[in-house]
Order: sequence, then C-alpha cells, then structure tokens
Amino acid sequence: MSLTVTRVLPADATAAALRADVTEGLTRTPKHLPPKWFYDARGSALFDRITTLPEYYPTRAEREILRARAAEIAAATGARTLVELGSGSSDKTRHLIRALPTLETYLPVDVSETALTAAGRALLADHPGLTVHALVADFQRGLTLPAAPGPRLLAFLGSTIGNLLPGERAAFLKSVHAMLSPGDALLLGTDLVKDERTLLAAYDDAEGVTAAFDKNVLSVLNRELGADFDPSAFTHVALWDAEREWIEMRLRARKELSVKIPALDLVIGFEEGEEIRTEVSAKFREEGVRAELAAAGLTLHRWWTDTAGRFALSLSVREE
Ligand code: SAH
Ligand code: AVI
Repeated sequence: MSLTVTRVLPADATAAALRADVTEGLTRTPKHLPPKWFYDARGSALFDRITTLPEYYPTRAEREILRARAAEIAAATGARTLVELGSGSSDKTRHLIRALPTLETYLPVDVSETALTAAGRALLADHPGLTVHALVADFQRGLTLPAAPGPRLLAFLGSTIGNLLPGERAAFLKSVHAMLSPGDALLLGTDLVKDERTLLAAYDDAEGVTAAFDKNVLSVLNRELGADFDPSAFTHVALWDAEREWIEMRLRARKELSVKIPALDLVIGFEEGEEIRTEVSAKFREEGVRAELAAAGLTLHRWWTDTAGRFALSLSVREE
C-alpha cells in the first residue's frame, strides 16, 4: 500500500501565479479571474456538493457512461498506469480502477492538495495493492509526468476541459499529445450542448451552492492576498452564450465599491453592476471535439454518450 504526494510547483510559484493572474485579470476591462483559483479546501468541498445537486447533471451522466463502458475502456487500453488530470475527489475514477485488472499505478494530478490527499487515502483503503502517486501540479503549465509503466491511460473527466478558453484548450491538447507514447490513450469527458434552461439551472441551483462556490474565489483572494472583498456585495450570475456555446459564471457588484488588495498594492474600483467573469464552461458537439483533438495530433476512436445524450466520453490515441 503506498501513497506519495509530490508538490511539482513550489508554494511560492503558486503564490506568484495567483498574484500575476489577479493583477492581470482585475486591472483590465472586462474583469476576469481564471477558474483554477476556486479550488482551495472549501472550494473543492463546495464542488463536491455541486456534483450531488439535482440540477447538476454532468457528474451523474458521466458516471452512467463510466459504469456502462469501463470494461470496454479497460479492454481497449490494457492500462497499467492511469493518469488523471484535475482528479478532485477521484470518485467516478473508481469505476475505471475497478475495471482495469492490469492497473498498477494511479497518478492523480490536481492543484488542490487537500482533495488529492483525501482521495488518495480513500482509494488505498479499497485498493491496497495500488501505487498512488499524487502530483500537486498545474496541468496548464508544462506538466512532466514521472516514469510509470505503460500502456498509460490519461483521463480528463468532468468536462474540466470546458473551463479552458479555446486557445488554452488547443495548447493543453498539444501538451497531452506530448505526454502520450504509442499505445497510450486519452479518455476525455465533455459536456454537450443542450437546451438553455437545463444549462442555466445547472450553474445557478436553487440551494445556492454554485453561488457560494463562485464567491469562494473572493475568499481565496482575501486570505492569500489580504484583500477585503465582501462576498455579500456581489451577486452570482450564470449566462449562456449561444454563439460561443459556453456558460459564463460572473460575480456582479451590487453597488459601486472599491476593494483593497494590499499584497499587490492595488485598489480595484467597481461600478454598480460591474462584473468579474470567473469561469467559462464550454459545451461541446462531437464534430468539434473530433476537430480539436485532430488539430493536436490526436485521433478520436470511440465516442460514448449517456442514454439522455447529455454528456460524452471519448477515447483517442496519438497519431503516428
Ligand atoms: N475530475 C473531477 C473534478 C472536477 S473539478 C470530476 O470530474 O468530478 C475540477 C478539478 O480540476 C478540481 O479538483 C480542481 O482543483 C482541478 N483543477 C482546475 N484547474 C486546474 C489546473 N490548472 N491544474 C490542475 N488541476 C486543476
Ligand atoms: C469542473 N468543471 C467542469 C465544472 C463545470 O461544470 O464547468 C465547474 C463548475 N462550475 C460551476 N459548477 C461546476
């Protein structure tokens, strides 16, 4: 039984990245923040609550596909190592781990150390023979994987790819191409375009958990940068951009206000109604996914959806 946690990025590199992102994102118009800063311990816990909400269908839909297809995925890949990017609680991953008789090593990668440690411990309790090597790392920053036996299956579940902007997605998929060797495969979860009502409800639930998750980024800035955001001075907003086919989450200032960020020597002014874009969550179509993969040198071999056609899992390999 073994669990190791390796911090790939030193803590000061994470702090420097946060400072750079906040300076860049809050001093421009319109204001924006990258979604990766949601996920401190509280943000990760709030995301886990989101996955159980009646309105948030993606987790249930992806789990349905994993349950139905895990054996097929195992047979197609014969993976000895499972790498998972943005692994969070690793909860759905259990369906894959159970189905892969050849699996020796699980390499979860996440920016949230609390999520990685809790997930690693829980997994080892059920799979004592598995080697779990967790990496605290940013998958957008030139990730180098430790040596691990092939064939390797690289999983990127939950449609977290939709939280990257199109240019970031293209760069990310090229880095995935560079990580894969012949015989390895990519298992990608993508949420699909659907009616606006279903989408908006998923990102603005009745209980207000998504609103609390959205506002959590302000608490992260207060703690890490000494900022004095009052989360109650902002309203959570979810919008569907039909042209770009993505959901946007925003925080809208209820009144004119200014916020001090001492660690950056900044004072940020907000007009009444001014917004910070905190997340995009792109929704996909099969042809778009196929094309984006192909542009990165990856060939889509299998495409599975849940019975209601809300979510897709695809299996791709590196072109030779
Ligand atoms: N895969 C899980 C969790 C999705 S939540 C699921 O499908 O339910 C998104 C996860 O990605 C969070 O755990 C978050 O901490 C992580 N994450 C977001 N941006 C990241 C980045 N740039 N690098 C590494 N992890 C990231
Ligand atoms: C992690 N990611 C895929 C989630 C999503 O649906 O875009 C994050 C989230 N944001 C609001 N609710 C969930």
